[in-house]
Amino acid sequence: MILNFKLSGGSGALVRGSSKMKKILATCLGLAYGVLLPACASVPDDATQQVVNVYTHRHYDTDQQLFQRFQEETGIQVRVVSAGADELINRLETEGKDSPADVLITVDAGRLHRAKSKGLLQPVDSAVLSANIPDHLRDPEGEWFGLTQRARIIAYAKERVDPAELSTYEGLTDAKWKGKILIRSSGNIYNQSLLSSILAAHGPQETKSWAEGVVANMAREPQGNDRGQVKAVADGIGDLAIVNTYYLGRLLTSDNPEERRAGESVGVFFPNQAGRGAHVNVSGAGVCRHAKNRENAVRFIEFLSQDEAQGTFAQANFEYPVKPGVEWSEILQGWGQFKSDALNLAQLGELNAEAVKIFDRVGWQ
Ligand SMILES: [Fe+2]
Repeated sequence: MILNFKLSGGSGALVRGSSKMKKILATCLGLAYGVLLPACASVPDDATQQVVNVYTHRHYDTDQQLFQRFQEETGIQVRVVSAGADELINRLETEGKDSPADVLITVDAGRLHRAKSKGLLQPVDSAVLSANIPDHLRDPEGEWFGLTQRARIIAYAKERVDPAELSTYEGLTDAKWKGKILIRSSGNIYNQSLLSSILAAHGPQETKSWAEGVVANMAREPQGNDRGQVKAVADGIGDLAIVNTYYLGRLLTSDNPEERRAGESVGVFFPNQAGRGAHVNVSGAGVCRHAKNRENAVRFIEFLSQDEAQGTFAQANFEYPVKPGVEWSEILQGWGQFKSDALNLAQLGELNAEAVKIFDRVGWQ
C-alpha cells in the first residue's frame, strides 16, 4: 500500500520530527483528508524497509497504482506527499537539509528550473533516463527529467474559423484576429514559458512586438484558466484560445455537459508545423538535493520513464509520453501527429525573468 500525506500550508512540521511522530501525524492527517492508509502495524520503519519519499503535485489514482507496481517490483515503499506545485518548492526550501524528500515531481520546465536554481535538486547520471527521455526534455546537467509532455496549442472555434487561416504563434498578431484571441494572464507560468520559447527563437525586440500584437488582438483582458478560455470560445467571446492540450482532454471527457460542449466546439491546431514546431512543456521529476534514499529515488524516476509507466503516467492527465514509441491515448491520437519545438526546455527557465519583464512592458495583464 502507498503511504499518502496530503499537506496544506503551514504543516511543515508534519514531515519532520521523529519517524514515530511522522507515523502518528500521517495517520491523523490521512484520515482527515480521507486518504487510504495501511494499518499502523504495517507501516515500515526506515531502518529496515527501503523507502522513497516523493513530493508530487499530482493526485491521480493511476499514479497510486503505478507506485504500487514499483513497490511490488522493487520492495521499495513509496511515501507520497502531495501539495500544490509552488508549495512543494517552498516546502523543500524551508526544510533545507532536514527535508525527507527524495524525489520532486512538479509541472513546467520553468518551475523545475526554479527548483534547480534554488539548489533544491542534484545531478543524476543515468543511462536509462538518457536512453528513454529525449535530450531536449531534460536538464542538460541531469537535475530534472521530463516525464510527460503537453503542447500549448491554438484551440479555434470550429464554426467560425477555417484552420487554413492559422499558421504560427507569430501569425496571431495579424490584424485579422483583432478582438478574437483568448489567453490567460501573464502571471501564469505556461504563458511565461511560451514567451520564453519565442524569445529563444527571435530575441527580445521581436518578442516584445509579438507580445504587443497579441495584447492588441485580445478578445478581453486576460482572465480565468485555460479551460475558461475554451469556454469563452464556446460562448462566442473570442475565436482562438491558446491552451495546453490536456485541458481539452479534460473538457471532452467531463461529466459536465457544458464542459463537453465547450471542448467539442473547438478544433486543435498545432502551430509552427513548417518551422520550429509547436511549443511543448513537461511535467517532470528530479532527485532532491538532500535525498536520504538517493539510489531508490533514481530507480523510481527510471521506472516512470519505462514503457509501461510512461503510458499510464501520461494518460492520467491526457498528456503525451516523453519516451518515443509509447502509445498515445485515443483522444491524443485523434488530434494527430505533430512536430514539436526541439528547444531544450532548460532555456525556458533561463529566459523566464526576461519573458516576465516583456509581459510587464507591453501591459499583458
Ligand atoms: Fe495545468
